Amino acid sequence: MVRTYGQGVLEELAEWSTVPVINGLTDLLHPCQILADLLTATERRGGLDGLRVAWIGDGNNMAHSWINAARVLGFGLRLACPDGFHPDGAILGPAVEAGADVAVARDPAEAARGAHVVTTDVWASMGQESEQEARAEAFAGYQVDDRVMAGADPDAVFLHCLPAHRGEEVTEAVLEGPRSAVWDEAENRLHVQKAILVRLLGP
Ligand code: NVA
Repeated sequence: MVRTYGQGVLEELAEWSTVPVINGLTDLLHPCQILADLLTATERRGGLDGLRVAWIGDGNNMAHSWINAARVLGFGLRLACPDGFHPDGAILGPAVEAGADVAVARDPAEAARGAHVVTTDVWASMGQESEQEARAEAFAGYQVDDRVMAGADPDAVFLHCLPAHRGEEVTEAVLEGPRSAVWDEAENRLHVQKAILVRLLGP
């Protein structure tokens, strides 16, 4: 399992490795986290049928893995990202061309309308700490708050890969509120990672 920055580092290792290599997080993708998020959504809804997910904020590694998951599993995904922080076209473009139900909106409320899962991430990811201030400015208006959650499905849950910056990408009220499933989601990281190992090490 490799947790690093550059996707190329992981891919080079995978190319030469004689055993499977798990992406524990790169700047480009974060698939293990999305599996935990999907397990949490499945537990809360009883399945993924008809699922609609809203991603609010940075078009980052988490957003990219949500796009890949929507493409493979066929659920709906709406992303709301500020100008300059849209997902990588090399991930989004092929997904849309393949017929994935994925679209980028500008307004968080529009993306969250009717969603069963509303999710976000920090505005400055690991390695981007020096950009924190500039990013806080760019992402103003992209906070998940009660107004954004109000337009989601009445049974919608809020997810966050954690750690969260309370009062930045999400309000304290949403993070700690009754619709937040972030603690179950964090626990599910453990269970899903066990499942990945069983899958890779099993017969
Ligand atoms: N986008 C975040 C995810 C952390 C779990 C980062 O890369 O830092």
